Amino acid sequence: MSLEGKIAVVTGAASGIGRASAIRLAQDGADVAIMDINETDLNETARLIEAEGKKCVPIAFDLLDRAALTAAFEKTKGTLGFIEILHNNAGGSLRKENRSFLKADAGQWDDFIALNLTAAADCTRAVVNDMKEKRTGRIINTSSERAFVGGAGFTDYSAAKAGLIGFTKSLALELAPHQITVNAVCPGITRTPILDRMPKEHIEASEKSVPLGRMAEPEEIAHAVSYFASPLAGYTTGEHLLVTGGRTLH
Ligand SMILES: NC(=O)c1ccc[n+]([C@@H]2O[C@H](COP(=O)([O-])OP(=O)(O)OC[C@H]3O[C@@H](n4cnc5c(N)ncnc54)[C@H](O)[C@@H]3O)[C@@H](O)[C@H]2O)c1
Repeated sequence: MSLEGKIAVVTGAASGIGRASAIRLAQDGADVAIMDINETDLNETARLIEAEGKKCVPIAFDLLDRAALTAAFEKTKGTLGFIEILHNNAGGSLRKENRSFLKADAGQWDDFIALNLTAAADCTRAVVNDMKEKRTGRIINTSSERAFVGGAGFTDYSAAKAGLIGFTKSLALELAPHQITVNAVCPGITRTPILDRMPKEHIEASEKSVPLGRMAEPEEIAHAVSYFASPLAGYTTGEHLLVTGGRTLH
């Protein structure tokens, strides 16, 4: 229970990695505010967190709506208190299939950067001054193996996730004097609803290329988030942890 008495925020917590992370942080002892555009599934995550005996504030809104985002963080601070842990996890895409750079329009590019990169910066902006004042804080960003190895049909997504790595490392340097750590978790293929929007052949081929021979479960990514949030990681900042079953080794 290393996070007893602490408050965490997890974005994109209605399903997949975000839900697993929010539950894991609650199991570690934190009270958790969870944010997502999908209200129904977000309420189910809240129920699962409350079943762990922790407080949970679910706030359903679109992270691309800056006014709603500011209001969500204000509500969290007013209800739970000082936000010491932020997991910027919302991301992916709402597209049904991967699209080549030549076919995708500029609007799609903007959407990917907004959700996978800019929203993380906006959420960080909402918590960082309080962290600085209290001289403590943990910011954890969900990037992706694609930040490092790319992927045909994923130019926009890979660019956004690589941007998140640059954001993580630069912010870590800026915030280190204030005792705030910033790290990134980089999942490989993980069993979440995000896969429902990808072609089946792509998923099968991806899974076959994993040296450990299977995709990750969301809880296995949440273990890495839990580590970065824990006192054990107090001397670790600006790092990215690839949790890919070895896929990025070759
Ligand atoms: N599953 C994988 O294979 C994999 C691999 C690498 C990285 N990731 C990353 O992990 C993170 C979580 O993805 P996941 O796999 O759990 O997928 P997911 O689809 O289960 O979770 C993403 C969540 O983000 C929410 N979301 C999307 N747009 C939003 C918006 N505008 N405002 C608020 N919430 C919004 C969705 O409703 C959803 O609950 C993403 O950043 C994704 O890019 C996933």
